[in-house]
Amino acid sequence: MQVSFNDGDRAIDPSIEPMFEKLAGLCTLPTVAQKVIQIADDSASDATDLLVVIEQDPAVSARLMQVVNSAYCGLRNPVGDLKTALTLLGVERVRNLALTLSIGAVLGRHDTSGRLDPTRLWDHAVCVGTVSRMIAKRSDACHPEEAYLAGLLHDIGLLFINQHLGSLVPRVLALLKSGVALPTAEHRVLGFDHAQLGAYVAWRGHFPPSLVHTIDYHHNPAACPEADATQTRIVAVANYLATRYGRGSVADRRLPAPPEGVLAPLGLNLNALRHLWAELPDAVANVNELTSS
Ligand SMILES: [Fe+2]
Ligand SMILES: [Fe+2]
Repeated sequence: MQVSFNDGDRAIDPSIEPMFEKLAGLCTLPTVAQKVIQIADDSASDATDLLVVIEQDPAVSARLMQVVNSAYCGLRNPVGDLKTALTLLGVERVRNLALTLSIGAVLGRHDTSGRLDPTRLWDHAVCVGTVSRMIAKRSDACHPEEAYLAGLLHDIGLLFINQHLGSLVPRVLALLKSGVALPTAEHRVLGFDHAQLGAYVAWRGHFPPSLVHTIDYHHNPAACPEADATQTRIVAVANYLATRYGRGSVADRRLPAPPEGVLAPLGLNLNALRHLWAELPDAVANVNELTSS
């Protein structure tokens, strides 16, 4: 028998469920990040609600103003307050900046001994978010800021594995070195993969369903329910490009190219992929404005 989650369209082995339950209790995001994600899913929320949430965390507010005035946002004139930033950049963009900074501040505090490098993981997350936004703008198939959010959070399961099951990570990395794909290596060592854990935690945390689906299926977009398949395909392509560019979650650039069935619905082909590749250096050039503390 399998245990259903993700509104019944996904199932996990019952032997894994108790461990997922336990991990889901440990795998929490910072308060600001959780509230910002809830606002993202609430159509009744507006810019004022977002301001109230962000201003509850002075450290995030201060960093946000730094980033708003950095090369990453590319504004012509300096901005002095969050309200003006919201007007100039839009609610979704500021929401995503606040989310990125609040999660990033927490992840930077974890130790790195014998495990995945949290700085690298976070750079990968922000790069995939940024490239997802670029692809969404180009394909015009998905709101660019929703694509950023999905890209940013796609590997959240890997962050949680690193934090809470870090002692097992070297065995996963050893398999990876011998050519085994990451999800397969995780299944062999842990009994599950980071996409499953990330989706489960996101589902338990009441993330929007589209986000849960993209986290769940980013390594297998062909299996994603059609309603959220476009966003998932975009993140899968962004994950491929960022990884091949050397900005992967682990120091391994090997990842098979997305198949035609992933590219074609986005209006992409191998030639278009080459164009995106050429745009990558500019797209990710200022990512460190967001990832440095
Ligand atoms: Fe992944
Ligand atoms: Fe990834």
